[in-house]
Amino acid sequence: MPDELIIVDGGKPIQGTVRVSGAKNSVLKLMAATIMAPGKSTITNVPIISDVTLMGEVLTNLGAEVNFGDRLVTIDTSTINSVHTPYELVARMRASIAVLGPLISRFGKADVAMPGGCQIGSRKLDMHISGLEALGVHFEVEHGFINASIPHGLIGAPVTLQFPSVGATENLMMAAVCAQGYTTIENAAREPEIIDLGEFLIHMGARITGLGTPKIEIEGINNMHPVAEFSAIGDRIEAGTFLVAGMLGGGPLTVSGINPQHLEMALSKLKKMGADLVLQNDSITISHSGAIQPVDIQTLPFPGFPTDLQAQFMVLNALAEGSSVITENLFENRFVFAEEIRRMGAVIRVEGHQALISGVKRLSGAPVRSPDLRGGAALVLAGLVADGSTEVSGIEHIDRGYEDFVDKLSAVGAQIKRIIT
Ligand code: UD1
Repeated sequence: MPDELIIVDGGKPIQGTVRVSGAKNSVLKLMAATIMAPGKSTITNVPIISDVTLMGEVLTNLGAEVNFGDRLVTIDTSTINSVHTPYELVARMRASIAVLGPLISRFGKADVAMPGGCQIGSRKLDMHISGLEALGVHFEVEHGFINASIPHGLIGAPVTLQFPSVGATENLMMAAVCAQGYTTIENAAREPEIIDLGEFLIHMGARITGLGTPKIEIEGINNMHPVAEFSAIGDRIEAGTFLVAGMLGGGPLTVSGINPQHLEMALSKLKKMGADLVLQNDSITISHSGAIQPVDIQTLPFPGFPTDLQAQFMVLNALAEGSSVITENLFENRFVFAEEIRRMGAVIRVEGHQALISGVKRLSGAPVRSPDLRGGAALVLAGLVADGSTEVSGIEHIDRGYEDFVDKLSAVGAQIKRIIT
């Protein structure tokens, strides 16, 4: 089978304006949420990336009619006639598990394969399951499938998550909005995508307060209705990725379509590294000259530093004037990227969940392979400043989450192209 590569020639200034697409991690959940109300909903600011197309397939497989347009998707869920999501789809994208809560809400049952997804450590479902059990959902896990039913109805309850899991908070919210009575979710995730989903559910008729705080309160209702039009927030991870590109390539680079409040921790790290930042309501402009200062980073749930920007910031630390430590607290095995960038001359030692980085003056272009979505994007970033040519393979990972990555980088000065070998 032909392989596609991204080839980057390093050393070009990166400047101009780049607009980020809608947030992948929001749009996937908004699409799943449409299941809850029979009828036609439209979501705008939709990125055309393979994970979004795949969520379209998951919904089509349930019987929905899904139509993609210009940065939008219209989903008619009145035709859904199945609650079964096969392994073939779930294995390709863990986020498919987001259909669990909505299917239980609308049909009282679901039959969803256990997920596969990103190769970034074991990602369990225990908090999804125990949270939903507290609302009266009965689970049987057999032959690789989660069979959910509600023998005595869906009943609101207080739930405390052990950890503010994004996916568990979302599945619980989507089940609780149609449960009888009140639900509280304590230690809830506070990511901007959770707020976006909550607001979408409110547009569907849900009664939710406390979004963006660790305590979400929900009063159950009987019927949800479709949403005529809802625009997803901009993608903070795509924005953070371009900000790193601007830092590496000097700027000034304006990243638009993003609320800077969604990136506060990443922006504070960029400042400490020596970036000049200008913030507007809907954009961030970055410039940088001189040496990059090394900065320690630890990934944490929002508002902490996002794990999805860890690899991109490792590129900055790899080129910084001194040593730094990056601590990964969310996922096991998310340092595969460190192995690849070492092939470009970076000096990084991984010890358990910490990467110890000694900055070097330059990286050199090399053939490298994307280990996962964010690691793949980070290799392209490294290629922007490496001497000579960097060939990144495994770019289907990058296509999962970045719309027109190569064209967008090329438009702001990168010498970059995609080729089929
Ligand atoms: C979402 C994002 C992903 C991001 C992550 C953390 C989507 C589609 N993906 O993933 O890009 O990196 O948030 O910001 O939105 N865990 C358990 N048991 C559970 C649930 C989670 O042990 O029931 C663990 C996971 O294995 C992981 C950690 O908790 O180690 C964080 O997971 P979670 O916050 O649920 O992330 P996702 O929703 O999978």
